[in-house]
This record gives sequence, C-alpha cells and structure tokens, in this order.
Amino acid sequence: MCGIFAVIGSREVSSIILDGLRKLEYRGYDSAGIATIDRSKTDQIGKLNIIKSKGKLIKLANLIKEKPPQGHVGIGHTRWATHGKPNERNSHPHLDSLAQIAVVQNGIIENYRDLSKSLKLKGIKLTSETDTEIIPHLIGLEIEQSLANGLSPNGQTLLIAVQKVLTLLKGTYAIAVIWSKAPNALVVASGQAPLVLGFGEGEFFCASDIPALAEFTRTFLPLEDHEIALLTPLGIELYDVDGNRQHRPPSLLEGTELTADKKNFRHFMLKEIYEQPEKTQFWIDRFLPMDLPLKNSLTFPISTYVLEKIEQIQILACGTSRHAAMVGAYLLEQFAGVSTKVYFASEFRYAPPPLSPNTLTIGVSQSGETADTLAALRMEKDRRDSINDANFSFHHLGITNRIDSSFGRELDNVIDIGSGIEIGVAATKTFLGQMLSFYGLTLLFASYRQKRTPQEILDLSNDLRLIPKQQTDLIKKHDSLSREIAHMFVETKDVIFLGRGINYPIALEGALKLKEISYIHAQGYPAGELKHGPIALLDKHVPVVSIAPPGVVYEKVLSNSQEAKARDARLIGVSTSGQGAEMFDELFTIPKVSEWVSPLLTVVPLQLFSYHIAAHKGLDVDQPRNLAKSVTVE
Ligand code: M6R
Repeated sequence: MCGIFAVIGSREVSSIILDGLRKLEYRGYDSAGIATIDRSKTDQIGKLNIIKSKGKLIKLANLIKEKPPQGHVGIGHTRWATHGKPNERNSHPHLDSLAQIAVVQNGIIENYRDLSKSLKLKGIKLTSETDTEIIPHLIGLEIEQSLANGLSPNGQTLLIAVQKVLTLLKGTYAIAVIWSKAPNALVVASGQAPLVLGFGEGEFFCASDIPALAEFTRTFLPLEDHEIALLTPLGIELYDVDGNRQHRPPSLLEGTELTADKKNFRHFMLKEIYEQPEKTQFWIDRFLPMDLPLKNSLTFPISTYVLEKIEQIQILACGTSRHAAMVGAYLLEQFAGVSTKVYFASEFRYAPPPLSPNTLTIGVSQSGETADTLAALRMEKDRRDSINDANFSFHHLGITNRIDSSFGRELDNVIDIGSGIEIGVAATKTFLGQMLSFYGLTLLFASYRQKRTPQEILDLSNDLRLIPKQQTDLIKKHDSLSREIAHMFVETKDVIFLGRGINYPIALEGALKLKEISYIHAQGYPAGELKHGPIALLDKHVPVVSIAPPGVVYEKVLSNSQEAKARDARLIGVSTSGQGAEMFDELFTIPKVSEWVSPLLTVVPLQLFSYHIAAHKGLDVDQPRNLAKSVTVE
C-alpha cells in the first residue's frame, strides 16, 4: 500500500527519494509524487518544488529527469488510492493554501469529513478528494497562529504545529511534513501506521518500510505508536505523544535479507516460488533437527502452560494467510486434537464470538502490518484484559515474515517464518512458511498432549524432512508444463478449483493466486459442494482444477471431478499418476506422500500455473493492478 520515503541532509535529495520509493514499489501503488525545498541563496526561506504523476514510478522519474527539483530535504510517496481516484490531483504530497507546507500520509483519517467542513467554514478551499489534504491546511493554520504569537519560522515551530494537529486526527496515519520556511527541518509522526527512522552519515531518513532504507543506512529505529520526530541535518529529536523527549538506541540491520534481487528470473514471483525448497530446508534445520525429542527441539515462543492447558485455538488472518491458517486448523484439530477455528480478521473485529476460556489466539500475517488482523488482535487483547479472570487471559502467538513489523513490536510471542523478503504481491514462499509454522505447532501440541503415538509424530517429522527434495523436483517438472499449457487459458473467464479436507484451503489458495495475477475469475470449493450449486456454471469453457492427492478423500475427489468431466469441463489434476488419473486432460503429478504433508506439495504446481498464465498474458505479475503487499487500511 502507500509508501513514504523522506530524507534531510547536505546533498541533493530528489534522486535519493526516487531510489527509496523504488524499494517501496512492491507494496503496490497507483500514483507517486515528491516535494523538496529549494533553499534560496539569499535568505533562509526556501521554495517548495512538487512533482507528481499518475501511474508507475518511471513516469515520475522521467519528469524529475527533465527538471530535477533542487533541495537537501524532501518527502516522497507512492499512493494506493482509497479516498479519490488515482490521479495527479489526489496523489501526494498535498499542500496548504499558501503552498508552503507539503505532507505525505499513509493510513486513513476517519474524521476527515468533519475536519474538511470546519476548514471550509474558515474559507479554505480543498482541491483533492483525499482525506490527507486536510493535514497541511490544519498545520498551516496552526503555524499562522504561532507566527502571530511571535514564534520564529523554524523546525521547532513546525514540530509544535504538527503535534497540535495530530491531536485532532482520528484514524491511522504515518506522515512526513516539510515547510518552505524551515528548510532545515523534516517532521514525521506515526499513529498506528509504521514509520522507521534511518541514521546515515550526515543525513537522516524516514520510510514506511525498512527495505527502503537498507541501501542508505543499516542503522534504524522504528517509531512507536504516536511518536513524533524532528529530523535536521544535525540529527533526530524524538518525542512521545505528550511531548517528552525520548532516547532509544537504534538497531543495526544485519544480513542482506531485506535487499531484494530478482537474480536471473523474469519476475520476483517466479524466483520466490523457486526459493521454496531452500526455505523449507531452512525451517527444518531451525525447528526440526534430527535430535528428537521434539519437545526440546521446537523452539517456538509458546509456554508449557499453553501447550498443556489451552482448550481451543482461534486464528485471525486475511487472504492467503487465512488459507495457511485453515491448513493449520485442520492439522491442529485432526492430528493434534485441539479444537481450532479460523476467522476472517475483518469479520472478527466487528462480530467476535463470545469469549471462551483457556483460548490461544493466533494472528497470521506475512507483512505483520495488515490493519484488519492487527485491529482484531488488539480488540481481542483489550476485551480479555478487561476481565479479571485468569481463565480468560490473552494467550497469543503471532506468525509473520516481518519480525520488524507492527506484529513484531506489539506481540510478545512471535514466530518468524524466516522466508526472506517477498516482493511479489502474490504470496508464495510466505504461504509455505506460514503452513510450516503450523506443522511445527501441530507436532508440538500433539506430543505434549499425547494425542499421537511417538511413531506417528516421528512419521510426520520424517515426511516433512523429505519435502525440500520433493518440492525441487516438482518445480522443475511443472515450471515447464505450466509454461506449455498457459496459452490454453488466455481467453478463459472462469476457473473452478476443487479440494477436500486438508487440501480444501489449497483449492482456495489456487483460486486466489489465479485471480490476483491473471485477472481470471476463479473460485475454490470443497469438492463435495460442486453438486450443490457451482456445477450449474460448468461447460467446456470453464476449466476445473482438482486437487486429489492420495488419502482418505482421494476417491471422493475423483468422483467429484468425474461430475465436472461429464459436463464437458476441461479437467486439470494435481494428483499422483496412476489409476484414475487418466480422466485428467492435464495432470500435474505429485509424489505419493502422506496426506498430512500434501499441501506443502499440491500448492506448488498451482502457483506455477497461475504465474505462467499471467506471464503469458503479459501482465504485471509482481505488482498486479489494485493490489498491495501490505494492506494497512481496513
Ligand atoms: O500481510 P498479510 O499476510 O496479512 O496479508 C493478507 C492478505 O492481504 C494477503 O495474503 C493477500 O491475500 C495476498 N495478496 C495473497 O497473495
């Protein structure tokens, strides 16, 4: 979603801002803009330069190249439209009426209508449809007042004005503000939307995500909720919501995990699919070494009390993360015997189930920033904390790929899935990492609760250890097969995915992947549901993908697939070669494995299938239209 990059220092900043914004492109956006302050040679007052454009950053880069805006301080933004269409007028930065103050913002100001009304009553004309534009106008009014009261035009005056305006805003925000009369100042603030400060040599940065900073500095400090900072060429002053100066040491970014490189792949998504065997191996080495007993070897942040006493688990997640959670719920219930329910985080927040005692709440989010999931977790924490009864305590666990995210900061117990940064908007290797975390939890619960025999636990562990090699073979085989058949689906409008049991979530995930990147309508169903309605859609133009690994529901899925075949649907199977498989028009063969571990394999050909159809159609696979990597609004 929207991205912010801001910098202040002693060199020209427009190209630095562009580089920073490029690192945020993967989050998804539809317009972009920058503002710098060109400091006059004769006095301390600068001139605000603004360049904005609709569409991809390359357009903004060309405009900047034509007429580079001068300045040693600047702010940049990639906008993912919420309030108002993606056009130049609505793109950030937004200005006050005197065109002296420029603001970029992430998040949503919920009371912007009321604030707009009061601005209009003061004669201020708003020129965009955004919720953001009220902010520079409000800051402008505060500054006018401060100057009238005798304050000087400098960074402190800007800081005070922003502090006052923040008290008026309801909703979520991360903002960066510059003022042409204070060219040595940059003010940034965060309210439930992430911002990270970066400490360079003679220059200071702020961005909505660490990857944007990694090229410039490895010393960073995330802003805590409702903190505000004044950045100058000399340093950073940090304040809490009450205006108290804060002193926290920054952290050092280690390794290269956050710097993304496409290597020789055409798209990040394909590279990320290829990385899965290595990521699975990494997970096994970390969490499932050979030296059982498992109880000691799985180093998850989960207490013995939770493992032994919890009566049920509730999982909150969205999109692909929810599909991983569904695989997890199946495993936790069916293998480990713990009653588990998965909720859409966005629904849970407004229609929570009655409070249950002795419950573990798990939040799953690859980005760790999904607004719906964070809000649902916060709400659950609040309602449990408000009850003075130990049975209703907030036992929780987060599963994320971004330990540096709000998940990492707000939750005490977090599993880092360690998939490495994922740039493709369509989640692949992080989905795998999330599923693997649930396999770990399942083994842990099963062994603590003695629901399974030691042999059964050993069998599942050993089956998991074989997965990396099996995934490697699958990728090799099905990358070419998917590429070969992709052309057949260029005109396709609808696809149905069928799966049962532990592979029903994989049918949902296969359909979501196809929708997201190829813009083909696709729906996943439990295979048994086909005859209860969706079958009416079937004819030779509607292909059906059946996920049918060997196991208890194998024959059932094959029968459901036959029902589709009888309606002339083109049948694509994800199954073992052998008896029954001849019915498929196309077959993605998978090895004969235990049904428990099959989702770790069946999803792979589906990822490749979607990828090649989208690539064949010449679509923007890594940044599909309208989608964002980090969905930071409700
Ligand atoms: O960052 P999260 O895992 O919380 O994101 C949740 C969904 O927005 C996400 O899974 C979305 O569905 C992806 N684009 C899937 O490819």
